[in-house]
Amino acid sequence: MIRARITGTGSYMPEKILTNFDIEKMVDTSNDWIVARTGIEERRIAAEGEYTSDLATRAAERALEMAGVAASEIDLIVLGTITGDYPWPATACIVQKNLGADNAYAYDLSAACSGFVYALSCASDFIQSGRGKKALVLGAETLSRIIDWQDRNTCVLFGDGAGAVILEAGEEGDEDGILSSHMHSDGSYLDLLYQPGFGTRHMPNAETLEDRLPYLKMEGNEVFKVAVRSLTSVSLEALQANNLNADDVSLFIPHQANKRILEATAKRVKLKDEQVYINVHKYGNTSGATIPVAMDEAYRGGLLKKGDLVLLSAFGGGFTWGSTMIRWSM
Ligand code: UT7
Repeated sequence: MIRARITGTGSYMPEKILTNFDIEKMVDTSNDWIVARTGIEERRIAAEGEYTSDLATRAAERALEMAGVAASEIDLIVLGTITGDYPWPATACIVQKNLGADNAYAYDLSAACSGFVYALSCASDFIQSGRGKKALVLGAETLSRIIDWQDRNTCVLFGDGAGAVILEAGEEGDEDGILSSHMHSDGSYLDLLYQPGFGTRHMPNAETLEDRLPYLKMEGNEVFKVAVRSLTSVSLEALQANNLNADDVSLFIPHQANKRILEATAKRVKLKDEQVYINVHKYGNTSGATIPVAMDEAYRGGLLKKGDLVLLSAFGGGFTWGSTMIRWSM
């Protein structure tokens, strides 16, 4: 079997930092509440005129450089995002143009916070099937643009950013690469976490704007419970499918939504604190971008070496959830 291997990672976070103290001046909240309930201290906000495609392009350039791969060698670009530059065409096509990846076909994938693991699963299948040899997989968001900055329940939680990986076909018999992907969804929870007024059901207009429909809505408390349950079950599913124990995992890189969710999940999966990568304090929840950004930081920070077992788990709107088990290749 030919496995897809990660040969480059990259990320880009906008320069502007918005701290909890800044948000205290915007809505009725406090740094203490935000830190205690979420672990978030600050988040990044895209500059005026800086779009999801721009963040994604910068992350992609860094991943291509690390892999030593030219943009023209890429066969496929998949971008997990819910904040594309336009509803359509795909922001992945804009990234393709920016990079000059003329031999790739490109599409966006809408699975909210699970967008990156879904995209990784598609690209891994593409390579394993032999259809292509090199793929660029991205998670990129400018959530600050769809946040209701008058709603303290949600505006403290999210941020902007982008991460990318290069996937390349390994050799027959290689033991490293993407070992497994397990993806799930359940549409019955749709209205616990969604953006009601930006599709054809409620087109943005004065009336829907008055009702704040074009913005992200979340029943945080309800989402929290299902998130812990689903992240736990899908992480255990990945361990079981690969005949592994929690102790075998070198690094668990979960979707970064809330520190309490990560800690509760890690405890249920029996992972120790030092096995869990957390950067939610710096960036908040960047939806599809959290996992590739964390992976890039972990690798560049020297936390990952060839042969390490890396477990990714994500949960998000839809609901969608999924896990990926990787034997690290670099
Ligand atoms: O990425 C996709 C998945 N998303 C998630 O996983 C997010 C899941 N949910 C969460 O992370 C948490 O539920 C939140 C951080 C959103 C909320 O934390 P919580 O501990 O579940 O709080 P809560 O919603 O039960 O609210 C507790 C209280 C409420 O006041 P009352 O009704 O008890 O008087 C809220 O009105 O906290 C109040 N509250 C706030 N207070 C100060 C809500 N937001 C704020 C705020 N500042 N920003």
